[in-house]
Amino acid sequence: MPALVNISYLTACALMIASIRSLASPQTARLGNFLGMTGMALAVIAAVISLKLPNYPLTLTVILSGAAIGVYTAFRIKITALPQMVAALNGLGGLAAACVALSEVLAFSPQNFNNTISLFVGGLTFSGSLVAFAKLQGFMPAHPLRFTGQYGLNAALALTILTLSIIFILQPNIPLFLILSLLILILGLLLLLPVGGADMPVAVSLLNGCSGWAAVGIGLSLSDSLLIIIGSIVGSGGLILAAIMMKAMNRSLLNIFTGSLGVQNSGTAAEAQTARSGAPEDAAFIMENANKIIIVPGFGMAAAQAQHTLKTMAFLLHNKYHAEVKFAIHPVAGRMPGHMNVLLAEAGIDYKDVYELTDINSEFSSADVAYVIGANDITNPAAKTDTSSPLYGMPILDVAEAKTVFFVKRSLGSGYAGIDNPLFYAPNTIMLYGDAKEVTEKIIKALES
Ligand code: TAP
Repeated sequence: MPALVNISYLTACALMIASIRSLASPQTARLGNFLGMTGMALAVIAAVISLKLPNYPLTLTVILSGAAIGVYTAFRIKITALPQMVAALNGLGGLAAACVALSEVLAFSPQNFNNTISLFVGGLTFSGSLVAFAKLQGFMPAHPLRFTGQYGLNAALALTILTLSIIFILQPNIPLFLILSLLILILGLLLLLPVGGADMPVAVSLLNGCSGWAAVGIGLSLSDSLLIIIGSIVGSGGLILAAIMMKAMNRSLLNIFTGSLGVQNSGTAAEAQTARSGAPEDAAFIMENANKIIIVPGFGMAAAQAQHTLKTMAFLLHNKYHAEVKFAIHPVAGRMPGHMNVLLAEAGIDYKDVYELTDINSEFSSADVAYVIGANDITNPAAKTDTSSPLYGMPILDVAEAKTVFFVKRSLGSGYAGIDNPLFYAPNTIMLYGDAKEVTEKIIKALES
């Protein structure tokens, strides 16, 4: 039996690694999901069999209840709410790690060091994820929350936790464990308060990595190879993803955890200048006569669920008006990595028409139209020109280079970073005010008639 369990564990790990490999491309992403689910199911079954649990019916009831809640939530969740769902799930991962550490301490396990690490990482992940969830869900203000002496308090708390952890490792006892747990939970809350909304996906990814490393800590305590391997995959995956996002946004860990982004500005630039606006019919007329159109989707397209309408517009422009139509994806467009790719794939837009920033940026200068739909920060030229802008250094899509730029959005309001976009007032920009889906539908109507 142990051999069979070990073979199952090994197969489950191989399936998880193959799953991540397959998730790297939209063509194989469904297969990746399937491989991941199979690996997880195999791991759970093998673990349940190998643990020789005293009460199988109770264990099965708990597993099936958890699975039912997971399936129900996954079916009900809107795609725009996925970041907060990931935050909540990370939090549960952290809580599980902290609970296992507690049970190990109650069982007088000698693994004090591993248990302390699991408690620290798990507790921090749990309370940090609660704040991330509350901010992303709108239960708390999304902007950075700061108060005087915040960083000093955090440092003092971290130092106290370190000292108490050393004492606990040398002389473990339950009251000290409980005090440590409380301080760690408070530190997790305090660390996430100054993180602004636009930085939250990076923080969520870091927390995701932490939940993986917490699982590694439990795996070491329990001598469980499966937890160690899967925990390392999750841990390194979360950290790599956060690093990719930070590079794409030109942000550092210090920027993120001190909350220098996401503070709403006064909007004075918007008041001082006027932006030119047009009707969807005008946009249709210009696009009918265009040879090359580049579509730039952003968060607003996701919010309006305009991807199917967008596909119809691109189809008409290409088939009826013989325009070359391409889609440009910024690495942090939307609210999570691959957000736009998933939506365009869902609408059935051909992968060969979808380009990454580095592959398409030089083409804007030869485009007649840049159709920016629900995107804002990822086109903001301040990221290139304004050294005082919090976006400074983030690579952007050079939509301003196109002959005409259409911005489809409801107002002159800022994007997630809370910063005015000077491009709205450029001479070659025409604002198309309205919901992304409704405006695109009106353009389709005009193109059809
Ligand atoms: P944003 O800069 O957030 O702009 C989205 C725009 O969509 C808003 O200005 C909003 O303007 C408009 N909008 C909202 N609902 C709409 C609707 N129903 N119809 C039409 N327009 C609508 O989005 P982006 O350009 O995609 O940039 C992403 C932002 O998220 C960046 O700041 C990025 O750094 C941050 N971020 C992303 C990630 C990942 S991994 N994607 C991770 C961390 C941070 P109106 O209110 O005027 O309509």
